[in-house]
Amino acid sequence: MKTSPLSIFALSLFLCLSLPSPCISTRCNANDREVLLQIKQSLNNPTHLAAWKPNTDCCDWNDVMCDTTTNRITTLQFGSANISGQFPAAVGDLPYLESLVLENLTSLTGYIPSTLAKLSHLRYFSVTKNSLSGPIPPVLSKLKNLLYINLSFNRLSGPIPSSLSQLTKLSQMYLDHNRLTGRIPDSFGTFTVPDLDLSHNLLSGPLPKSMGKMNYTTLDFSHNMLEGDVSVLFGKNKTVQEVFLSNNKLSFDISKVEFPANVTSLDLSHNRITGTLPASLASLQYLFQLNVSYNGLCGQIPTGGRLQRFQSSAYLPNRCLCGAPLPACK
Ligand SMILES: *[C@@H]1O[C@H](CO)[C@@H](O)[C@H](O)[C@H]1NC(C)=O
Ligand SMILES: *[C@@H]1O[C@H](CO)[C@@H](O)[C@H](O)[C@H]1NC(C)=O
Ligand SMILES: *[C@@H]1O[C@H](CO)[C@@H](O)[C@H](O)[C@H]1NC(C)=O
Ligand SMILES: *[C@@H]1O[C@H](CO)[C@@H](O)[C@H](O)[C@H]1NC(C)=O
Ligand SMILES: *[C@@H]1O[C@H](CO)[C@@H](O)[C@H](O)[C@H]1NC(C)=O
Ligand SMILES: *[C@@H]1O[C@H](CO)[C@@H](O)[C@H](O)[C@H]1NC(C)=O
Ligand SMILES: *[C@@H]1O[C@H](CO)[C@@H](O)[C@H](O)[C@H]1NC(C)=O
Repeated sequence: MKTSPLSIFALSLFLCLSLPSPCISTRCNANDREVLLQIKQSLNNPTHLAAWKPNTDCCDWNDVMCDTTTNRITTLQFGSANISGQFPAAVGDLPYLESLVLENLTSLTGYIPSTLAKLSHLRYFSVTKNSLSGPIPPVLSKLKNLLYINLSFNRLSGPIPSSLSQLTKLSQMYLDHNRLTGRIPDSFGTFTVPDLDLSHNLLSGPLPKSMGKMNYTTLDFSHNMLEGDVSVLFGKNKTVQEVFLSNNKLSFDISKVEFPANVTSLDLSHNRITGTLPASLASLQYLFQLNVSYNGLCGQIPTGGRLQRFQSSAYLPNRCLCGAPLPACK
């Protein structure tokens, strides 16, 4: 009699069921399983991870994913779960991790561990809306394959590590809503990250001048204590489309600034900007959001383009702006 694949399967199932030891299909990598169990334990064995049992295939566990060929853990993703404890340092021992997501875990505390620097395959790193504190570890600059990093809505403090500029594949970086201090590092003047959000921190000092050489799409530096002249970010041939700089201490004369043709949003409110609004603002066809309120601007609002469509609150208060939509100049 020929042995059919079915009978082999039946035989192995029989052997499997008749053995006293748990029958583990060996998909899951044993090291990864040990690390995940360590993570579970360091999070105080939450109910959310009740299905993470040593005698089962870790590729089937909730909140993780294995690569279909290597069977190594590539995704770890906890969101809005009842999980408390410190950020598990053992996460750094999942060497094939590509995506790490810890979102909306309000009882997740502690520091971002430097062990994460070992995750050389990591591409997506979203650790937001937790209660993490301490500094951003400078060794995160070793994550050379990172495309996306979001550390927003935590309590991270200390400076922005200048080494982050070594993340050359990064296209989006969000460090907003933390307690970061110090200046935007000079190294950011050679850091090509098209989409950068540093808003709602305690950053101070001027922008590095060479940031003017970089090509951005979206910049949000609002709600900090930044100072000085940011006009290097603008210029006719720049790529930037959205710029949010409100609630800082920026002071420069806006009169001669040329805004890039593709700008869609420009919020400069609550600063110390002086001068008159440049006529070039009226030629921006795509500008659908403008706010220059709470500055020291003066003179006539240029006519044309979309400038008369904004509410007066986009322009008021200022030192002496006038003309539609505000009352006519005297
Ligand atoms: C969260 O988990 C802890 C312990 O695991 C438990 O005591 C608590 O009741 C849970 N809270 C909710 C809202 O489920
Ligand atoms: C965050 O988690 C809480 C419960 O822990 C839940 O009520 C809330 O909807 C979650 N928010 C998001 C944006 O998922
Ligand atoms: C970063 O995380 C925050 C909080 O979870 C979220 O609101 C925001 O959309 C994220 N940023 C992007 C653009 O993915
Ligand atoms: C910015 O874009 C321009 C035009 O595409 C390009 O010539 C220049 O090299 C870019 N600059 C950087 C720093 O990537
Ligand atoms: C804009 O023009 C300046 C000088 O003409 C050049 O140095 C810069 O690289 C250009 N930037 C972009 C984004 O093309
Ligand atoms: C402006 O947008 C157009 C159309 O999307 C694009 O072709 C052009 O390259 C953009 N210009 C700059 C300077 O980014
Ligand atoms: C402009 O910003 C000010 C201050 O943040 C705000 O009160 C006002 O509503 C904004 N106006 C528009 C049109 O966005």
